[in-house]
Amino acid sequence: MDIQRIRQKAIEDISAAVTAEEIFTVKIKYLGRKQGEINLLLRALKDFSEEDKRKSGPLIQQLKNEIESAILFREKELNANNANIDITIPGKKIDYGHLHPITQTEDDVRQIFNSMNFSVIDGPEIEDEYYNFDALNIPPNHPAREMWDTFWIQSNKKDGAQNKRLLRTHTSPVQIRYMETHKPPFQIISIGRAFRYEATDATHETNFNQVEGLAIDRNISLANFKFVISEFFRQFFHQKIVQVRFRSSFFPFVEPGVEVDVKLDNSRWLEMGGAGMVHPKVLQGVGYDSKKWQGFAFGFGVERLAIIRHKIPDIRLFASQDLRFIKKF
Ligand code: DAH
Repeated sequence: MDIQRIRQKAIEDISAAVTAEEIFTVKIKYLGRKQGEINLLLRALKDFSEEDKRKSGPLIQQLKNEIESAILFREKELNANNANIDITIPGKKIDYGHLHPITQTEDDVRQIFNSMNFSVIDGPEIEDEYYNFDALNIPPNHPAREMWDTFWIQSNKKDGAQNKRLLRTHTSPVQIRYMETHKPPFQIISIGRAFRYEATDATHETNFNQVEGLAIDRNISLANFKFVISEFFRQFFHQKIVQVRFRSSFFPFVEPGVEVDVKLDNSRWLEMGGAGMVHPKVLQGVGYDSKKWQGFAFGFGVERLAIIRHKIPDIRLFASQDLRFIKKF
């Protein structure tokens, strides 16, 4: 039957059309007013018997509707392809996010100390005065407290004076919390935020990060520390040889206390942070026998490590939210 044949052929023609011109040609072929297949069928109707007219008329009309909507559909399809997809245009670069340079630095620090058998532990950013100061051999009213400008947290308790809270001014209180709950020997690091109530400039931020280290055993000396920290710098700065020197310094929680400097290739000496042998009073405070146990501790600035590694001119860039800076890493 003609209708079936035309329907079949029309479907083939429509799906074979891949350009606007081709689909237009198909449209004329079937729906054209003069020689279109549909109109030819309709015109032929007039020679049919009344009964055949009644049967075939609606079938032809239905075929016409089908072809019209199939063509319309195909036209839209081709249009969409042509208008929106030019397969010759290079693809858009997908903008992936990445870790902040400080996070990258911290991950590296963790990984290097981990490889030297240090455990990584955590401590609270809101601290008790006791852990931040007293237990570190910095009693109330001791002038050494002036080394750390402190953000105090207002207490609404009546006993606020005994249990004063603050934003930790360094990561050293983590040492106390760990020693209170663990028996030596051990070696740990802790990485986290510290806060200082002071003016900011290119080398000072009110909020920065520190890496704290502590190793306690029977026979640990500063020589062990020098080896560990040299190995850390060697790996962190991807350097075969690094020079490390200690300058005598003072921190209440160590004796002796030192300032650690590092020299990479032909650079000048760079100051990295504080360190020393844990003060016997600190060990006794957590219930250790200071005749039996000793160890080293250190505290370095994470930002300082990143600044030296990447030659960054200003510490304030890290928290500036400036994408031009962040995207460099
Ligand atoms: N907590 C000191 C600071 O923030 C740094 C420091 C010095 C940490 C000597 C130590 C240490 O563990 O032994 O200024």
